[in-house]
Order: sequence, then structure tokens, then C-alpha cells
Amino acid sequence: MKESVFRVLKLLEEAGGPISGESLSASLAITRSAVWKHIKDLREMGYEINASQQEGYQLISASTMLLPYEIQKHLRTQVIGRQMQYLKTTPSTNDVARTLATEGDVAALHGTVIIAEEQTGGVGRLSRAWVSPQGGIWITLILKPTIPIDHVFMITMAGAVAIARAIRKEFDIGALIKWPNDVYIGDKKVAGLLLELAAESDSIHYCLLGIGIDVNIKLDTLSPELRSGVTTISEELEHEVDRAAFLARVLREFERHYQVLESGEYDAILREWKSMSYTLEQHVRVNTMRNSFEGEAIDIDEYGALIVRKENGKIERVIAGDCFH
Ligand code: BTN
Repeated sequence: MKESVFRVLKLLEEAGGPISGESLSASLAITRSAVWKHIKDLREMGYEINASQQEGYQLISASTMLLPYEIQKHLRTQVIGRQMQYLKTTPSTNDVARTLATEGDVAALHGTVIIAEEQTGGVGRLSRAWVSPQGGIWITLILKPTIPIDHVFMITMAGAVAIARAIRKEFDIGALIKWPNDVYIGDKKVAGLLLELAAESDSIHYCLLGIGIDVNIKLDTLSPELRSGVTTISEELEHEVDRAAFLARVLREFERHYQVLESGEYDAILREWKSMSYTLEQHVRVNTMRNSFEGEAIDIDEYGALIVRKENGKIERVIAGDCFH
């Protein structure tokens, strides 16, 4: 979108009331018809703008779309989200991020966030389909971590901590983290994370952290199978929320925890993860590629592995798998 569209928007916001087309065109040194075209573009982006012969243009309400312009108003980060790419619809933000990271300078892309209003081919863990209608937050972060590769899973842990913290701070809801990488409210999943790694021997080229959060989505628009295990922020609060402000909060929380991780303070992340854990001290059933067993989830180690004490007393360390309560 052209820069001047947002300059028109900024002037409408600053005016706080009606502003004439003439004054907009003079302030921005563009023609009256260019102003009109930008007004139409802004309306298409979801801004409600009145136009009258006598008074000119007036911004009535802001867009509720997840536009970088709206996110930036709330963003308090140094690196994460300083570059954003917004797509109204795309198969998967992970694909877009992968193409950028493969073709571009990864160091320069570090912190870039790809945002989609909806995904038509969203992907979850274990290549499962990830339903991504409008109203959610579907993003992928491009990262160039400097931590040792054996600690890379802690990026997902930092992401889960960031989402749970953001939900707690923004909405005062006691979100919890379910191993390995889900965020829960009560007994329902509200968000998931997916880490994709591009590495050669033990050096990380880049990481893609895909994040999906069910925000302003009505449960009755989801299929019955999906509906039974998930919740959304708007269902919990019984009203829709400002997604842009919430995403800015998630990115800020993520940056804070990512910095802790990069400084090697793995224990600090682990402590926070454990303090919000849904899984620890619970009786769980674990399915791995090799087997399935039950026991008590007693700990998580600094590599992100779940430690389970089986009923016969034997301790199992689970690096990858699904966990049911
Ligand atoms: C899971 O819990 O299975 C992980 C879900 C991750 C979904 C996000 S949505 C944004 C990004 N793009 C994708 O296709 N997947 C991730």
C-alpha cells in the first residue's frame, strides 16, 4: 500500500473531526482525486470514513484488521516486529517467511513478522491442518538465533511463555502452557506454536516461529470436532478484543523473553514456563513415535524434554510427542 494512504489516515486521525479534501490535498501535495482514491483504499481496509460536500472527510472508526499501521501504534520493541509484511490471505505465513529467509539476507530479516488475516492452508504440528479463519492471529517470525542448537526448542518455550503472559496481562485470564507447545485457557487450547529450523551440522541458519492464536473467532463457526477442544479469547471474554494491541503485546513479551534466552539464562525461561504449566504434576498419557505410556509429568529439562515418572517408577524423558491429560 502506498505510503501516502497512511499519511491521509494520519491527518484524519489528527483532525479528530471533519477535514476538507482541499486541506488534505494541500498538506500532502497530492491531487483531490488522489485523496479520494486513498479514502476508498482506506475504506477497503476497514476504516469507516464519512464524506460530505460541506464538511469534507471524517474518520468515524478505525479498522479492525490486523494492519501493521495499527500494530505499530502499540509496538514497544526494538527488533521483533520492526519489519512486518501483511497479507489479507495466503496459504501459510510459514511459506511466505521461508521464501523470504531462503532468498534474502537472514541477518537483516531477523525479527520480521509475516501476518495474515486468514490462511487457506495453515499447518500445525505433525503436519496437521491448522484452521485459520479471519479474526485470529496467524503470524510467522523470522529469527536468526545465536543460542546453541541443542537449546533451540527453548525458542518455542519462550514463545509460549510470551503468549500466556500477554493473555494474562492484556485480558486478566489465567492462561497456561501445555507441553510441548500449546497455550490453554481452562481445559481448552487457545494458541499453538510451531518451530521450523534451517540448520547445517550444528549451526542454525534461521528459525521460523509460527504462532496461531484464536482471538476474535466465534466457536459456532468452527466444525464440531474442532470446537470441542478449543476456545477463543472473544468467547472467554464474551466480547471482541483489539487484536493489534494484543499482537503488539505478544511481540513485546516475546522480545523480552528471547533476549533472556540469548543471554543464556535458560533457567529463567524454564522457571516462568513451569510457573504457568498445565502439564506438570498431572497424570498424563504420552504418545511418541515409538510408544505410548502413562505416568506423572514431573519436570521439564533445559532442552524442553518432558520428564515422566511411569507407574512402575521408571523415569522417561520425552523429547517429542503428544501429551494427553
Ligand atoms: C500447533 O499447535 O499445531 C501449531 C500451530 C501453528 C499455527 C501457525 S498459524 C501461523 C503459522 N502458519 C502456519 O501455517 N502455521 C503457523
